[in-house]
Amino acid sequence: MQQVDASAAALDAEIRACQTCGLCTTRTNAVPGDGPINAAVMAVGEAPGQTEDATGHPFVGAAGNLLNSLLEGIGLSRSAIFITNIVKCRPPGNRDPLDGEVAACAPYLDQQIDLVKPEIILLLGRHALHRLIPDAPTISKAHGTVLTRGERTYIPLYHPAAALYNGSLLTTLREDMNTVHQVLRERGAAQGSGNSGNGNTLSRQLSLSWTAEEQP
Ligand code: URA
Repeated sequence: MQQVDASAAALDAEIRACQTCGLCTTRTNAVPGDGPINAAVMAVGEAPGQTEDATGHPFVGAAGNLLNSLLEGIGLSRSAIFITNIVKCRPPGNRDPLDGEVAACAPYLDQQIDLVKPEIILLLGRHALHRLIPDAPTISKAHGTVLTRGERTYIPLYHPAAALYNGSLLTTLREDMNTVHQVLRERGAAQGSGNSGNGNTLSRQLSLSWTAEEQP
């Protein structure tokens, strides 16, 4: 575990100093990601916004508040999951990240996934979906479904920022969180021996945050 911690800290520092694409000239802070390096659940968003750029932490603005409440709604503490983005620096004016920017950051996200070894990855929005599952259908078809690739399970969800200003997307996002809850419960019940060898257990994480009646 010490080796993993050291690798994670080195990767964090590398991301914070990165000058691989033009976003380094407009960012205030790069935003590597937050959370336990042995988390069984990872959430991947698009790119930092203004508050994230100012603080160096992901999902700390309005979209982050919604994400926190969605997670709490299924008994999952934000602090139990690893949260990051496909692009680590804010695109000016919150525009969509360019293909070259996504490609420049790709090795960072790939290394984070290799280090954390999450069992379940929540894909927040179409950019995260198509970065990690290029052959997936559109987010409007894929949201709320459970996709398995290799040893990982992916659950695409609408991006919380999109749901902030669209009531019907918010309703759908809340419904899709029930699927996340269901998968966590099933995995919690079936698990007991760690998240792909990284030393923590999904069942242990869930039992920390679920009420007694809810425990699988
Ligand atoms: N939107 C994202 O995709 N990521 C953040 O960190 C904040 C808002």
